[in-house]
Order: sequence, then structure tokens, then C-alpha cells
Amino acid sequence: MERGWPHEKGFLFSLILHLVLQGRGDTSINCSGFDRHGVDPAAFQAVFARKAFRPVLNCSSPTHVNISFTLSAILEVDAHLQLMTSFLWLNVIWHNPFMTWNPEACGGIRKLSIAAENLWLPDIFIEEFMDVDQTPPGLMVYVTNEGRIKYDKPMQVISVCKLDIFYFPFDQQNCTLTFGSFVYTVENMVLAMEKDVQEISNTSLSLIRSHGEWVLLSIHQRAKKMVVGTNQYDQIIFHVAIRRRPSLYVINLLVPSSFLVAIDALSFYLPAESGNRAPFKITLLLGYNVFLLMMNDLLPASGTPLISVYFALCLSLMVLSLLETVFITYLLHLATTEPPPMPEWFHSLLLLCTCPGKRCPTAPHKEQKGLALTPTHLPGLKEPVELVGKMPRCGQAEPKEHPESTRAQREHEAQEQHLVGVWVQFSHMMDTLLFRLYLLFLVSSILTVTVLWTT
Ligand SMILES: *[C@@H]1O[C@H](CO)[C@@H](O)[C@H](O)[C@H]1NC(C)=O
Ligand SMILES: *[C@@H]1O[C@H](CO)[C@@H](O)[C@H](O)[C@H]1NC(C)=O
Ligand SMILES: *[C@@H]1O[C@H](CO)[C@@H](O)[C@H](O)[C@H]1NC(C)=O
Ligand SMILES: *[C@@H]1O[C@H](CO)[C@@H](O)[C@H](O)[C@H]1NC(C)=O
Ligand SMILES: *[C@@H]1O[C@H](CO)[C@@H](O)[C@H](O)[C@H]1NC(C)=O
Repeated sequence: MERGWPHEKGFLFSLILHLVLQGRGDTSINCSGFDRHGVDPAAFQAVFARKAFRPVLNCSSPTHVNISFTLSAILEVDAHLQLMTSFLWLNVIWHNPFMTWNPEACGGIRKLSIAAENLWLPDIFIEEFMDVDQTPPGLMVYVTNEGRIKYDKPMQVISVCKLDIFYFPFDQQNCTLTFGSFVYTVENMVLAMEKDVQEISNTSLSLIRSHGEWVLLSIHQRAKKMVVGTNQYDQIIFHVAIRRRPSLYVINLLVPSSFLVAIDALSFYLPAESGNRAPFKITLLLGYNVFLLMMNDLLPASGTPLISVYFALCLSLMVLSLLETVFITYLLHLATTEPPPMPEWFHSLLLLCTCPGKRCPTAPHKEQKGLALTPTHLPGLKEPVELVGKMPRCGQAEPKEHPESTRAQREHEAQEQHLVGVWVQFSHMMDTLLFRLYLLFLVSSILTVTVLWTT
């Protein structure tokens, strides 16, 4: 057979042929002397030489590959790029029929470690993987005397994950890790679970090192066959459920903005006439804008989470309350400088609304001189108050000695004064009414947002 070959090449060829034939005939490894002289590399040459091919005796039979993993950290979840970065230990177990030996022949050696690069490795990949594989070089595998190979590798998995940030910061995500083979169809490679998924979940939960933003909730698994054209690929899908720790966001986002809104609501108790209310509210609004600018980094950059709606709601509440203050200030200004005439029906309605009892006087007629609608808090209104002081009291008899002209003028002044009082009263009523509407809106929107968050 080697007659036509140069001498040394022929010898080498015959050696390889011998080894291959040895491998084909009796697939087990001659392990004698391993316990005394250490492992003989020559004994494994035949197996190592086969590493380019799937190790099966009959090419029609599939390789059964069992997989399992342990999730040891959830490093980052990027809502903008929709990526989850996690760290896991992947365990791959398969059977190599050429890697068997008789442990009795070598002093009971049942397990050996071999550099992984010498062996055929199943090409298990994660479908969602979005990065180059950074598997460190020089990994080892464990081989048992029955040919069971156990290969563990650490992986930093940057996987694409459909993130739904609507409930941010109270959101839960469900990320998928799909394990499968690149090239081997289901006729050549069959995947199975090495461990129960509950066990994987339990181990990961107890092992997880990071105490970051994300908490692992559970891992679920299902098997699937992916069909591409006429080929079927075996896949195992893991659903990793994770939950965000919301405390950072509650403290930094929700609490300050709630305080600002609460202060805004309380500022309605500043008297509208004092003129302090509008500047106060403008300051609050400015402060809130600065807060929003600063906290923009904490918010997810994509999508519209409920918290953005909440912030927009807070901002619009503040703007509304500022507008209300402007309106009331204008109304008060109008009432005290040039009160427009008030329709009789409106006046009666106002009286009906403000004083349901009988203590209030009706609209001023010729003979009525009382003025119960005295503006109470009017620091800027010296003149009308003085006028009120000069007014004859209700039920007091009018002095008879005044001339007619003075009497008419007084009556006119009284009427004007009354009008001012009614307008001021109306402004206060509007203020109270709008404040109640504001409170109603505030409470209902907060309730809505809370209900949406908790469901
Ligand atoms: C195994 O190898 C030893 C020498 O290393 C040899 O003496 C022995 O005959 C071999 N056994 C078999 C079954 O080939
Ligand atoms: C190889 O496997 C196929 C199907 O599993 C079977 O039909 C065939 O007989 C096997 N060949 C040998 C030599 O065992
Ligand atoms: C793979 O796991 C199954 C049970 O899930 C087991 O029967 C089989 O022997 C395992 N295969 C290997 C190569 O460990
Ligand atoms: C995750 O999503 C998949 C479907 O995409 C679903 O079957 C599974 O039940 C979900 N898991 C959890 C824990 O929500
Ligand atoms: C996982 O843990 C739960 C409780 O934490 C326990 O009930 C269950 O039996 C465990 N499962 C396994 C496979 O260890």
C-alpha cells in the first residue's frame, strides 16, 4: 500500500492509517500506563484528528446535546437599544463514542480533562445574541470513560429583548434566550435539557451576584423546532423574567415632583389679593422645569412611559394653576378699579350661591342701606374699606338733617361700593371653585396613574 510513497512519508501515513483503523475497529482508547506515566498524547491522536467531524459511528444518527446554564448576573438593560446584558455559564453535554476507555486497564481513571480546542464542539449559539462571542481561549472539557463530554463556558450575553417601558419604573421584562445550533438540522443534532428548568432557576436565583437595578424573578423554558425552508432546527427557548428595583426612581423622580405639586396646590391658600401667589407659582414652575431637565437622564430614552405622562400632567397642573391665578388677579383688579355692571339675575344667583341662609341682604334698593358683602381681605383696597366704615349700619336710622344732594351721592357711593364687594366676592368664589376643580383633577389623575401602575 505504501510502496509508491517516499519512505518517511509512507511511514507517517501508515501510522495515521493504523491509528484511524484502530479507531474504526475498536473505538476505545488504550489507556494503559495513564496511572503510572501520565496520559499518553499518542493514545488520543486518533480522536483529536477527527475534531473537524461530528463524532458519531453512524452518520445518520443524531448527536444528542444537552444544555443548561446558570445566570450569574444581570448587568444592564438598555431600553433605548432594547438590549439586555447578562452573564451566564453555559453547560453543554454530549457524547463522543470515540472517547471511551476501560477504567480497569488504567487504575480506575474515569474522568480526564482535555483542552477544548482539540475536540469537536457543538455550535450552540443564542439566537438573540447581538455581539461577537467573547469566549475566552484555553477552555477545558471533562471527559468520562463513557465518552460523555462536559463543556462549560462563561458568556457575556448581549441579547436583544423586547422591552416594554410603559410601566417604568415599576416594570417587569420578559427576555428570551433561544439556544440552538447554527448548522446542524434536527437530523444531526437533538437538543435536550440537562437539568430541570426549575433547578436552573433556583441555582441562578441563589448564585446571582449583582445587586443592581434588576432582580431575577424566574426562568421558564419551552422547546421549539425552527423551520427554515425544508430544514428543521432544534431550539430550546428560555424566558427570563426580570423586575426593576424602583426605589431609585421613586426617590429621585416621583417624590420630588409630588412635593412640588403639593406645594403648588397649597399655594392656593396664599391670598389672591396679596399679589404673591403668581410669582410663587412661577418660581415653582421654573423649579419644576429645572427638575425635569436634570432628571431627563434617568428616564428611558425611547417610548412613552407612564411616568412621562405623569410629569406632563404635573406640569400642566402647575400651568393651569398659574393661569387660574392670573385670571383671579385680573378679576380682582377689575372689581376694585372699575367694576362692570352686574346683571340682576347674576347678582341674585351669586347671593343664592354664597349665602343660602337668610343672613345675607338682597340687592340694594332705594331704602336698603345695609352692606353685608363687605370685602374682608383687601389690603390693597383702602378706599372701599374706608367707604364701608363710613357707611350707615344695617338697621341704623339715617340722620334726617342731611341735604338731598349728599344723600343721593351717598346712595350712589353705597351702590358702587356694594358692586365692588359683590365682584370681589365673585372673584373669591371663582377662586374657590377653580381650586376645587383643580383638586378634583389632581386627585383623579393621580388615582388614574396609580391604578394604571398597579395593574
Ligand atoms: C496498550 O498499549 C500498551 C503500550 O503502551 C501495549 O502494551 C498494549 O498491548 C496495548 N493494549 C491494547 C489493547 O492495544
Ligand atoms: C445507521 O443508521 C440508520 C438510521 O438510524 C440505519 O438505518 C442504518 O442501518 C445504520 N447503519 C449502520 C451500519 O448501523
Ligand atoms: C441528556 O439528558 C437526558 C435526560 O434529559 C438523558 O437521558 C441523556 O442521557 C442526556 N445525555 C447526555 C449526553 O448526557
Ligand atoms: C414571556 O413571554 C412569552 C411569550 O413571548 C410567554 O410565553 C411567557 O409566558 C412569558 N413569561 C412570563 C414569565 O411572563
Ligand atoms: C426550587 O425552589 C423552590 C422554593 O424556592 C422549591 O420549592 C423547589 O422544590 C426547588 N426546585 C428545585 C428543582 O430545586
